[in-house]
Amino acid sequence: MAHKITLIPGDGIGHEVSAAVVRIIEATKVAIEWETLIAGAEAIDRHGTPLPPEVIESVRRNGVALKGPVATPVGGGFPSVNVGLRQALDLYANLRPVRNLPGVPSRFGDIDLIIVRENTEGLYSGLEHEVVPGVVESLKIVTERACTRISIFAFEHARKHKRRKVTVVHKANIMKKSDGLFLQCFRRVGVEYPDIERDEKIVDNTCMQLVMNPYQFDVLLMENLYGDIVSDLAAGLVGGLGVVPSANIGEKAALFEAVHGSAPDIAGKNIANPTAMLLSAVMMLDHINEPEAAARIAAALNTVIQSKKTLTRDLGGTASTTEFSDAIIAAL
Ligand code: NAI
Repeated sequence: MAHKITLIPGDGIGHEVSAAVVRIIEATKVAIEWETLIAGAEAIDRHGTPLPPEVIESVRRNGVALKGPVATPVGGGFPSVNVGLRQALDLYANLRPVRNLPGVPSRFGDIDLIIVRENTEGLYSGLEHEVVPGVVESLKIVTERACTRISIFAFEHARKHKRRKVTVVHKANIMKKSDGLFLQCFRRVGVEYPDIERDEKIVDNTCMQLVMNPYQFDVLLMENLYGDIVSDLAAGLVGGLGVVPSANIGEKAALFEAVHGSAPDIAGKNIANPTAMLLSAVMMLDHINEPEAAARIAAALNTVIQSKKTLTRDLGGTASTTEFSDAIIAAL
């Protein structure tokens, strides 16, 4: 029976990278029935809202979605579709594996980190208001429930994937109550996992340590904002946003997407690199129990990148998105 999966192509380069990834997955012959829905600025034009209810219903029904980047206006305009989807579907765990891709130039080799980011609250709760003109307040919401379940997720993931250590990243020296609660929940949950080493680091120090000696880390657990920032820093260790995937996981649904944005500067030129979205699709194939197709795509991607003959511009080549995808399909 075919897997039913919601496809949100996104905007900007989303159209190009999504089309490329769908073509590559189809070449593996895994039976997938895509349900394609639009979100973002295009959805406002057609449906009057950036996140139509049908999108959320579709992901809820299918339980799995593959999503391209969706642009969010800065400082005004509509709220983030990405944050909206995570909150509406309660996709509480953002999982970002950070690994080197053989052949991609990077500052470090043999990096293998897992970043687990709490995805539903913290400063991303979107609760901001103007107290009086010239003074605004942004609320950082932290609940014991969310901190506990993300800690359980991190330790369970560590145990399942035979990782040795979970480091919680915080700023509880300053935010004694909010980050303090995150830390307390981590400690309480961690006691139940004596086989996994525990470590605690303040976020600013973590950034410095990641740049100086990333090998000391294994699984890193953090709240929403730190996760957003630290995962981009970590992507920079292995060659940048073009090569790192991510998954947003909840109890009832999972949404897979690249970490990069809609890249308006190169949109529509057929030069975007589909690697990050493809690696997200590899995570998705593992999730839907198609590990063979996942492994074949990962291997074909490695072959193409290592041969250095057909690379997109960001990787130092001249190939178009289509040529790069064709090379992966040929390698399959
Ligand atoms: P961006 O990731 O779109 O672009 C940053 C730089 O990386 C640009 O120079 C771009 O050309 C390059 N780049 C990104 N992806 C690439 C790819 N696949 N191949 C080759 N080059 C690539 O970040 P930016 O400019 O900050 O954000 C643009 C828009 O994307 C914003 O509206 C933002 O809100 C949105 N965004 C959406 C995300 C999502 O849907 N999950 C995540 C991040 C940003």
